[in-house]
Amino acid sequence: MEKFSIEGPVRLHGKVAASGAKNAALPALAATLLSDEKVELTRVPAVRDIRTMCRLLEHLGGECESEGHRVVASGSCVGGDQPDAPYELVKTMRASILVLGPLLARRGRATVSLPGGCAIGVRPIDEHLRGMEALGAEVELSEGYVTARADRLVGTRFRFHVPSVTGTENVMMAATLAQGSTRLENCAREAEIADLAELLNAMGAKISGAGGDVIEIEGVDALHHARHEVIPDRIEAGTYLIAAAITGGDVEVEGARWRDLEALTAELEAAGVRVERTASGVRAVGNGELAPTRVETAPHPGFPTDLQAQWMALMTQAEGTSSLRESVFENRFQHVAELNRLGADVQIDGRTAVIHGKRALSGTGVMATDLRASACLVLAGLAAEGTTVVDRIYHLDRGYEAMESKLHSLGAQVERFSAPMEV
Ligand code: UD1
Repeated sequence: MEKFSIEGPVRLHGKVAASGAKNAALPALAATLLSDEKVELTRVPAVRDIRTMCRLLEHLGGECESEGHRVVASGSCVGGDQPDAPYELVKTMRASILVLGPLLARRGRATVSLPGGCAIGVRPIDEHLRGMEALGAEVELSEGYVTARADRLVGTRFRFHVPSVTGTENVMMAATLAQGSTRLENCAREAEIADLAELLNAMGAKISGAGGDVIEIEGVDALHHARHEVIPDRIEAGTYLIAAAITGGDVEVEGARWRDLEALTAELEAAGVRVERTASGVRAVGNGELAPTRVETAPHPGFPTDLQAQWMALMTQAEGTSSLRESVFENRFQHVAELNRLGADVQIDGRTAVIHGKRALSGTGVMATDLRASACLVLAGLAAEGTTVVDRIYHLDRGYEAMESKLHSLGAQVERFSAPMEV
């Protein structure tokens, strides 16, 4: 199993380019199933989840050719007796559920494994299924699989009970080929949804309002070829901005879009970090002194849950007591025990973490439990005295492209190795 060895403390300095957003590229790839014609995606990040989605598309009979950051995919959706998204794939990547809507719309039938729980919580898909039913599908759950069927989906008016990101994407994709018009209410508003709608519209769909809480879709008979550049990854960008802050450094993330990062930049400023919009991205400059904050995660435009763990690492270095409430997922504090092993003083009270700072961190062996928790431990390692070894970085590789080279370019000493750990 591969690990990172990080020598700290270090002051990061320089520029780093934002990769394409994994969470925008995944639904974009699923959307290629909606057309037989080729869809060309650029700025696709070279991360493990993208390779998993490509494998899934091929398993479904689609085409998926990638070269560097360019992927050309098309969906012929052969179908057969096999489940479309088997448990083996869904358990490694929940976003596999994103093929449900496109397959149902295109082929009239889709069978996808139920994701079950994962490290950060139960994560149900009831909103996806209610949406498909509202479009006229018959949905059946059996032996750990969901099967949805419909001759042709029919436009509808549907309100999400909770604004699910992939739920909104799934139902929006399905509705593009429905008969008549669909109005989706209480939609998630994350930037990745607007990006998906832009791709779908380039493929001939008629969607308006994506990125807001009401999305209207006029169904069309078929979608066609298109080219689309995936948006930059706001979570990856946010992670490097926090890395600048925790190391008292100066980092510019090139390509990062200010408008996608406002919840984070407001909190960075509250913590005393200078943040500025530059000609090519966003820059954060720390001065080594951090004020405590009270932060609560929320759906966009709130503070992203995908930056909660990284923010916690930062607050271990603030002078005073911070609080961090996780309102989106019920079990997303698994990094706390590992942070405390590095010398942090974090206590959990229900859904709130209380972080007592400033604590000197000192390097030791820690274990990553999920994608963003891994990033939190890497950030803590950059600020800790001595060597931090982060185990199970396969979690990190799911969503961060070339993190060690990007950190190297900013002056960090981070090595990837697979030898047995000795600290
Ligand atoms: C997406 C992101 C993930 C991010 C999350 C929240 C992708 C591929 N993943 O995940 O990185 O952490 O948004 O910003 O884009 N819920 C239900 N029923 C449902 C669906 C969700 O109750 O059918 C609940 C969830 O349990 C959670 C909340 O809604 O409490 C938000 O989850 P959701 O937005 O669906 O997360 P994902 O789309 O899975």
